[in-house]
Amino acid sequence: MTYLLTGGAGFIGSHTVDALLARGARVRVFDNLSTGRRENLPAHPALELMVGDIRDADAVARAMDGVTHVLHLAAQVSVAASVDAPCDSASHNLTGFLTVLDAARRAGVRRLVYASSAAVYGTPARLPIDETTPAAPLSPYGLEKLVNDQYAQLFGALYGLSTLGVRYFNVYGPRQDPRSPYSGVISIFCDRLRGGEPLTLHGDGRQTRDFIYVGDVARANVAALDATLTGVCNVATGHSTSLLDLAATLGAVSGRAPALRFGPPRAGDIRDSAADNQRLVTALGVTGFAPLADGLRRLWDAAA
Ligand code: NAD
Ligand code: UD1
Repeated sequence: MTYLLTGGAGFIGSHTVDALLARGARVRVFDNLSTGRRENLPAHPALELMVGDIRDADAVARAMDGVTHVLHLAAQVSVAASVDAPCDSASHNLTGFLTVLDAARRAGVRRLVYASSAAVYGTPARLPIDETTPAAPLSPYGLEKLVNDQYAQLFGALYGLSTLGVRYFNVYGPRQDPRSPYSGVISIFCDRLRGGEPLTLHGDGRQTRDFIYVGDVARANVAALDATLTGVCNVATGHSTSLLDLAATLGAVSGRAPALRFGPPRAGDIRDSAADNQRLVTALGVTGFAPLADGLRRLWDAAA
């Protein structure tokens, strides 16, 4: 088996590289190093890094050489940036996506798993969100991921390509950049707490999210590559936590009582997010998600 990971030098990608290498696979990373970093990747004889852009069809075709499985993670990952610059976002997330999909089909790869997102659901009419919940994206980013799902399903019907879109909820863990304005709340909170700064809660702090540890996401990715399930699959723990509880748990884990500051709610925020992860558990066999306190401890210790 040879695995191609686009975006493999990034946050989720590099943890998945570690999981694949640990079981003896050959791995090729294809990444333009825009947000990803070489330092995220280990020096390993079974790992190769190709620096290139997913919008470059020739480079993507070369990257597919000898590949049996593709995990496509490379993307413009910021919701806010997609609102500011929708054409640029679409060039990565639509043109780039299609370039990878078509190259995989032409190369005859056995299986392609790609990153979709909980962003496709927008503000759902009911909770918890399962994969039959109607999509209603609120941003160009969410719409791009939804179109990815539709293209992938069409490629299955037209060419027999076996694909699965993994819809990540709120992923956290080591190697997530806390300094970007688009960082996830957990990496921001950890960074601020370590620096002795107060944590800012946008709104009353009672909004909820399904936070999943990146190591569990890496396990889900590997299971998705191994499986034959097609369509889309939520990747989440099935448990939601409020930001107030998150801050309290982080305080307990770090041994530092966080100072909380309350600001206005963030424009466009959804209030509650709660995932139904039964497809992940039953169809992909992924269980044993890290409790939030355990994941936070690993993140806190990794940054020490
Ligand atoms: P990340 O920024 O760490 O990873 C993205 C990687 O893609 C980076 O290594 C970057 O250098 C690379 N890349 C970007 N544009 C590229 C291009 N045009 N050509 C080649 N490489 C390119 O972000 P991440 O959190 O690891 O996200 C991975 C995937 O998961 C993305 O598709 C993202 O949309 C999706 N996702 C993430 C979350 C989350 O909570 N982190 C939630 C839902 C979906
Ligand atoms: C996350 C994803 C987004 C995806 C969406 C799908 C990240 C960075 N973003 O958005 O790509 O579309 O899930 O459900 O993972 N908050 C604070 N203080 C802070 C930072 C954030 O109170 O300093 C709040 C936010 O207002 C929000 C919550 O924390 O209510 C979570 O924010 P964030 O981590 O940015 O993720 P989502 O907005 O859920």
